[in-house]
Amino acid sequence: MAEDPVNVNEYQELARQALPKMYYDFYAGGAEDQYTLKENVEAFRRIMFRPRVLIDVSKISLSTTILGYNVSAPIMIAPTSMHKLAHPEGEVATARAAAACNVIMIVSYSSMCTVEEVASSCDAIRFFQIYVYKRRDITAQLVRRAERSGYKAIVLTVDVPRLGKREADIKNKMIQPQLKNFEGLLPTQVVSDEGSNFKAYADLTLDASLSWKDIGWLRSITKLPILIKGVLTHEDAIKAVEAGAAGIVVSNHGARQLDHTPATISVLEEVVHAVKGKVPVFVDGGVRRGTDIFKALALGAQAVLIGRPVVYGLAAKGETGVRRVTEMLKDELELTMALSGCPTIKDITRGHVITDRERL
Ligand code: FNR
Repeated sequence: MAEDPVNVNEYQELARQALPKMYYDFYAGGAEDQYTLKENVEAFRRIMFRPRVLIDVSKISLSTTILGYNVSAPIMIAPTSMHKLAHPEGEVATARAAAACNVIMIVSYSSMCTVEEVASSCDAIRFFQIYVYKRRDITAQLVRRAERSGYKAIVLTVDVPRLGKREADIKNKMIQPQLKNFEGLLPTQVVSDEGSNFKAYADLTLDASLSWKDIGWLRSITKLPILIKGVLTHEDAIKAVEAGAAGIVVSNHGARQLDHTPATISVLEEVVHAVKGKVPVFVDGGVRRGTDIFKALALGAQAVLIGRPVVYGLAAKGETGVRRVTEMLKDELELTMALSGCPTIKDITRGHVITDRERL
């Protein structure tokens, strides 16, 4: 394996070599038979380009805005848990890389650096991801801490009423040894008993009774825009808009929840059509190439979120690894835009891609 990867997929192998098997499996794994895990990646490969030629592409700009914030590219770092298992500097290293690349980082509710530590480490634009806990006061406290620390949006993940069946974690008896008990709360964000497993923790804390009416409660306790992450159908997309979401993330949680959900890229358009431009739509799951990002934008996403590749970069080379992963995706997107005849993000249209359904 090359020590100096030329694409983000090569970081996966470096991460595998760097990490204890239990942690690598936790990051890499999906639910049950991992059908959706493969499909998230494969579905991108079935979308082809319709490039245009003889367009001046001597200058390419990837810059765009997300919820009004100027960023260098339509890329966000997805919320992924427990970065200190990947690297001792944890989420602080990830945030510094996000700041260096001028992309938004979504900090996970189960980060191992506190929301305040991440905030004071650098000037990255940060969103904060939450679940609604059975104890609403804990959720409200977290939202207040994120507000006070300058986070710009709340990302409410709605696809985890219970934790999916991740069989590698069951086999490995995945535990969180570093986490300490604190009045039933794990440090920073997380709640559990020391040494308890992740599934037990999640079952104890996540509120499976959460429903659409609770979005109103969340809106009542914060002025921050709320993105709803984990939508896969036009029915739910419409409900999310009606509930006051400021944006929607089409996501199947990186295939870690319900196996046999479709690849996110294959349902993106359904959601985009339902939303009718009222709020921005984002997508994550299986984005491994700049070409994937271009395809997502052509199908109506305003930006993509990157999950595992960021963690692999972090595990392999810390902050530098996350920076390299982000830069490689940006470089590949820039090249794809040049080769497709799109000098700016706004030039990317539905007509630049053809899906497998259209080819049949
Ligand atoms: C996640 N994901 C996730 N999502 C979330 O809302 N809160 C979280 O704490 C986590 N934690 C988490 C841990 C790990 C190890 C992974 C791989 C994923 C899901 C994540 O935000 C995103 O939806 C997927 O990772 C996107 O798919 P890719 O890019 O990993 O294929």
